[in-house]
Amino acid sequence: MDILEYHRRTKHRPDAYAKGPASIDWEAQPDPFRRYDGCDIVALPLEGMQAPSTWASLWQDSGDRSLTTVRDVGCLLELSLALSAWKQYGGSSWSLRVNPSSGNLHPTECYVLASGVDGLVDGVYHYRADLHALELRCCFTSVNSDSPSLALGFTSVHWREAWKYGERAFRYCQHDVGHALASVSYAAATLGVNAADIRPLMITDDELAALTGIDRAEDYPEGAEAEHPDCLITLSGGKSGSLTGSDWLSLAQQGSWKGIANVLDRRHFYEWDVIEEAAQATRILERPAPDHPEYCETPAIISQGIRATDKAAQIIYQRRSAQAFDQSAGAISQQTFFTLLDHTLARRHCPPWNALPSVNGINLFVFVHKVDGLKPGLYALIRDAESSEFQNRMREQFVWESVDGAPEHLGLYCLLNAGTQRTAANISCQQAIAGDSAFSLGMLADMRGLEAEPYQYRQLFWQAGAIGQTLYLDAEAEGLRGTGIGCYYDDFMHDLLGLSAEDYQVLYHFTVGVPLTDHRITTWRPYQERR
Ligand SMILES: Cc1cc2nc3c(=O)[nH]c(=O)nc-3n(C[C@H](O)[C@H](O)[C@H](O)COP(=O)(O)O)c2cc1C
Repeated sequence: MDILEYHRRTKHRPDAYAKGPASIDWEAQPDPFRRYDGCDIVALPLEGMQAPSTWASLWQDSGDRSLTTVRDVGCLLELSLALSAWKQYGGSSWSLRVNPSSGNLHPTECYVLASGVDGLVDGVYHYRADLHALELRCCFTSVNSDSPSLALGFTSVHWREAWKYGERAFRYCQHDVGHALASVSYAAATLGVNAADIRPLMITDDELAALTGIDRAEDYPEGAEAEHPDCLITLSGGKSGSLTGSDWLSLAQQGSWKGIANVLDRRHFYEWDVIEEAAQATRILERPAPDHPEYCETPAIISQGIRATDKAAQIIYQRRSAQAFDQSAGAISQQTFFTLLDHTLARRHCPPWNALPSVNGINLFVFVHKVDGLKPGLYALIRDAESSEFQNRMREQFVWESVDGAPEHLGLYCLLNAGTQRTAANISCQQAIAGDSAFSLGMLADMRGLEAEPYQYRQLFWQAGAIGQTLYLDAEAEGLRGTGIGCYYDDFMHDLLGLSAEDYQVLYHFTVGVPLTDHRITTWRPYQERR
């Protein structure tokens, strides 16, 4: 399948949403937690909140710490992928996590690869967010290096999104990988890890499947939903002797494996074959050549938000998606607006970009609703000038005026002055959150490389997810709140921009504003019994 064909058929239109289930049985939702029965379980410490870094400090100096103990691994996962709250309303309760997920369905699974980590047997572990624990899937039987090495492998259970969202679910799974990679990068920065130690390890999908054990058919009994390989990142990559992708692979291939995957959903009423086709079409078949990303060389704006001197761990832990915004709230400051946009620029040694295999190719189109001193309207943030050939193909009436007071390196342009609240909400499947906020935006991706390298489709979504994660966290630091928006009418947005060819496509929307809190919902902390 041509991946652009998948993209085309999973567009939402006002009169025809992408194909999804005609009805949903809310009483029979899939189990939100994968587990592997029969594995030894290692409970992880819950000490992440003690990490001293402030939010603002994450943009000053990179730390110099390494993650070498089980305690470090516990902190890293607690601040990236763990549960962060249980919620209750009426008779139902549900968990929320540090990382966001489309529909709170959490298709992303994480595998910890550890060698020489104090307190952990060398091996491959599956992370259990419900327990904040590791399941030992594979014990390494040989040792490759004396120095500690740590890596994380990410996979997706596509069914976990597909049962609810149907064909469009493959896109959401990819967004979620991007959010998860970014969450890990922010957690590592919070723990003071040297930013140069974190980077993706370029291996093929088959290799990643082998080293996470998700290709072991015998461990997935009939009905146990498959996982698909996504991305491998090292957290010790700058250290001499740190294990490479090939090293991990040979350890896993010679290791001794244990554990049987659970069945998440006994009844699959619908089949969405196109998701498997899209996964096949975007497989990484050969190790990708190292990318040469264009980074922003101007130092990042240091956050001055009202919570910027809070601990970064606190900002990470409190992150939530806004359900509604306060329509009566005043404008946010320009400083806040520029800081949020600035942090979406890819910088070599800033989170979350060190964890991403692709950081270029996405530009932002911003609906400014309420920003002090800026006229409401449509603005463009050129994150990647090389991918901005679309400029002369857009609507002729766009003025492309630089914005007074905006830092020059931002590449921020006003295209059109107009009230855009209703338009933004309409484009986002009529969701009020896109119009009632201070600003919302669409992420326009350069799709021109996909014919030669279709796997880049997934990586562009990961990048979009990571941009979303920076906005989520920076919004919290400014006393605001954000929400990722995966439900939008694709071609409405392209029409608005005046783009008709398929070379550029919007992959994600996001909105930021002053949130309203639903006080009917009760919240309590997770892992109470462990504290
Ligand atoms: C990729 C993605 C797409 C999302 N799309 C929407 C959306 O269209 N509308 C919405 O209200 N929330 C959306 N959300 C927010 C999720 O519903 C939210 O992350 C989830 O319920 C978990 O809540 P939390 O973010 O507070 O942890 C999206 C989140 C992600 C990561």
